[in-house]
Amino acid sequence: CGIVGYVGDKQAQDVVIEGLRRLEYRGYDSAGIALVDGGSIASAKKAGKLANLEKVLADQPLPTSTTGIGHTRWATHGAPNDVNAHPHLGSTGRVALVHNGIIENFDDLRARLEADDHVLVSETDTEVAAHLLELQVESGVDLTTAMQRVCQRLEGAFTLVAVDAQDPSRVVAARRNSPLVVGIGEGENFLGSDVAAFIEHTREALELGQDQVVTITREGVEVTTFDGAPAEGTRYHVDWDLSAAEKDGHDWFMRKEIFEQPRAVADSLLGRHARNGLLQLDEMRLSDQELRDIDKIIIIACGTSFYAGLVAKYAIEHWTRVPVEVELASEFRYRDPILDYSTLVVAISQSGETADTLQAIRHARLQRSKVLAICNTNGSTIPRESDAVIYTHAGPEIGVASTKGFLTQLVACYLLALYLAQVKGTRYGDEISEIMHQLEAVPEQISSVLAQAEDVYALARAHVDTKSVLFLGRHAGYPVALEGALKLKELAYIHAEGFAAGELKHGPIALVEEGLPVLCVVPPRGRDQLHEKMISGIQEVRARGARTICLAEEGDTSIEPYADHLIRLPKVPVLLQPLVAVVPLQLFACELATAMGHDVDQPRNLAKSVTVE
Ligand code: G6P
Repeated sequence: CGIVGYVGDKQAQDVVIEGLRRLEYRGYDSAGIALVDGGSIASAKKAGKLANLEKVLADQPLPTSTTGIGHTRWATHGAPNDVNAHPHLGSTGRVALVHNGIIENFDDLRARLEADDHVLVSETDTEVAAHLLELQVESGVDLTTAMQRVCQRLEGAFTLVAVDAQDPSRVVAARRNSPLVVGIGEGENFLGSDVAAFIEHTREALELGQDQVVTITREGVEVTTFDGAPAEGTRYHVDWDLSAAEKDGHDWFMRKEIFEQPRAVADSLLGRHARNGLLQLDEMRLSDQELRDIDKIIIIACGTSFYAGLVAKYAIEHWTRVPVEVELASEFRYRDPILDYSTLVVAISQSGETADTLQAIRHARLQRSKVLAICNTNGSTIPRESDAVIYTHAGPEIGVASTKGFLTQLVACYLLALYLAQVKGTRYGDEISEIMHQLEAVPEQISSVLAQAEDVYALARAHVDTKSVLFLGRHAGYPVALEGALKLKELAYIHAEGFAAGELKHGPIALVEEGLPVLCVVPPRGRDQLHEKMISGIQEVRARGARTICLAEEGDTSIEPYADHLIRLPKVPVLLQPLVAVVPLQLFACELATAMGHDVDQPRNLAKSVTVE
């Protein structure tokens, strides 16, 4: 969910709605706003995208106010309808509250409130907290104290932001395991799920710790613990600007982000390859000795980031000979994984806020493992709670489906693998330098793939009536096939599945029927017969009527007889091929979804960063 709070001298409605627009990628099932208006709360909320709320506000304007909160929802408890939309009010309507996260003991709290004749109108866990907060302020304490007391009774993960009708001077928020940052202005202050909420007003931000309550007024910001003891946040300056988050003439953020990939990859490589040929990772806070002691690596991540982890396994094992497991973050801690001080856990997360991944690294650290985060968001929770970080430099990724985030994660994974190889001495410096040069050539090679966009678009538009698509790959091309399928599911809502091409004959081939499109990521020709085996797989599906779309390197003529459609990839070693091979699949999904009339940036049921488990 996205959360905004404001107090200052501007019209709170404008600031809040603008902030919600920039946070809408975090959830867009419903949106709402509450303003403090001369002793009462004025609020509006509506199911669906923010535009629906804006329409309501245009038809029935709220009174002017300079204190307000807003919310854009990704539903957890209760259907995404008007009633369940935030803000939620207490019984008397004195307190309004927005919430991100899940209050795990809400059933119990609700039962107690109902026993005391409270009438709760929604199915949400949030409304319970609104009632509790109101009971506190009605008892005579200020909203800050009320928030501290209520938080002590809540279990689970939450960011709460509230206003009290009787006190327009303050907005009070609390956080536990859920994101919240403060924007520091002059004569005004802001709250947001991330800095995008207020970046056009201020670039000065304050990061809060866990279990803290923050009160913003026009004059200042005050932080306490849940017990009311004074506490401090960490000040920082936000170094990306608003224009980086705008669409740059593209129809979708996603398309813009696909085309930014040459730059994003180049930026993520910048400054890593020193003049002496050695790799340097400045946020690598683990000593060489600690890295040499590592005898096992477990990579944890979700969604697209998980597929980056699958590619990383091939690279790390090949270059360092350290065994690597890749695990879905949501499964990790429940299987009682074998961890100790010599295990390195690598958490990959674009947002740095994914709750499943966060909980997994906490589990790993409790078992004394070292945690290294690969992350795109400075100051987010996952890197903050890790022993070391490799930041990717993709810039803000707004499209819900990850593109440049994924490519830069791959770069970070290769860098990690090569760095480990350097420290452990499993590869000679010359070889590492050679691979770095190959990586440095990739941005231009991605540009050459992007130059074929029109061809891929035409192909995509020819598939608007397709019901199902298969993706095949081998080796590092297998995660690419999985990612290609995921993109199509996320954006076009088409049944799509990725398979390891060799596994096809053991079951999935039964799915193949006349006319089924099968996208094949063909490995480069090499000594290992992978290419030839891939061609056998392609023949097997073709023999059963599939239409094959093959992604194969330039100059590979042997593929021609087996490809109904051919997309050319630049020549890169098999391990690096995902960096170029995934690009046409992103373009394909983006264009197909556009042609089908879907919202590419905000696909149904999804959210950019899922901060609940
Ligand atoms: C959500 C997004 C996915 C993303 C996943 C992991 O489910 O919709 O696109 O891959 O989270 O996000 P992270 O920020 O941890 O990389």
